[in-house]
Amino acid sequence: MIRVESISKHFGGLKAVNDASIQIESGAITGLIGPNGAGKTTLFNIIAGVYQPTSGKVFLDDEDITGLKPHQLFGKGLLRTFQIAHEFSRLTVLENLMMVPGGQMGESITNTWFKRKEMMEQEKKIAQKAREVIDFLNLTHVIDELAGNLSGGQKKLLELGRTMMVEAKVVLLDEVGAGVNRTLLYEIGDAILRLNRERGYTFCMIEHDMGFISRLCDPVIVMAEGAVLAQGTAEEVRSDEQVIEAYLGRGLKNKKDATSGEDRESSASSEVVSTREGNNEEAIS
Ligand SMILES: Nc1ncnc2c1ncn2[C@@H]1O[C@H](COP(=O)(O)OP(=O)(O)OP(=O)(O)O)[C@@H](O)[C@H]1O
Ligand SMILES: [Mg+2]
Repeated sequence: MIRVESISKHFGGLKAVNDASIQIESGAITGLIGPNGAGKTTLFNIIAGVYQPTSGKVFLDDEDITGLKPHQLFGKGLLRTFQIAHEFSRLTVLENLMMVPGGQMGESITNTWFKRKEMMEQEKKIAQKAREVIDFLNLTHVIDELAGNLSGGQKKLLELGRTMMVEAKVVLLDEVGAGVNRTLLYEIGDAILRLNRERGYTFCMIEHDMGFISRLCDPVIVMAEGAVLAQGTAEEVRSDEQVIEAYLGRGLKNKKDATSGEDRESSASSEVVSTREGNNEEAIS
């Protein structure tokens, strides 16, 4: 579905992404992992049209989309989630979803004057759709709550909900689990799985939590120092020597059995775990 071909992105002398090629297959939940500074977010930003690559190409269903702007990609169903912007925190959950641009006609003056009836009908449809999304995400109990009052995890669900207001085909998630408690992380995982299975969403997600990655993602792509290092199932990449090396190589030597991660969802005994705060210090082999 998405084919990234030999993408490089240099910031001055820094090669943030260096000749990376990946594929995001239709219908899959692809995981993108790697130590801090590996170039994951930069690669996402290039796919999503936020950055222009220094070189290389990105294809969506064989169409060259390199250099298209985020709103153009949005129209093609390729979107990345963004944190709820500050000004949206004073709107309710329902209002937030109704604000998602999806070709509402209410915005132009001409429409306001001449197409009042159609406009109101459309608004009703949008509200209906928003309610359906809210039900799907189990957010019904906070439908009239201001977005600013939601917990971190509920905000993430709302961000996911915004992608459901448009016809999203591929959704890029950058650290959707960061700062979210275990219970809500599990719920977010559920929502992602259901969107994938029931609604046909294709996902690519950057995540540091290996338990979360193992539960949701196949395949998992590992980046390190701007390049793609490995690809396989979560289990395969976890036992890949090069991958372990990439995590360990950054300031952590032989720190074995540091933590067993008992409350994690994964039952695997060999884990490479890196948390945002931990700066890769929890890599375990
Ligand atoms: N706009 C920018 N200008 C200059 N350097 C940048 C810019 N964005 C990223 N970088 C650098 O590029 C490298 C890759 O950063 P990137 O954010 O893509 O890593 P990441 O894999 O997402 O890391 P993390 O896991 O910490 O989020 C880093 O060295 C970073 O400092
Ligand atoms: Mg990042």
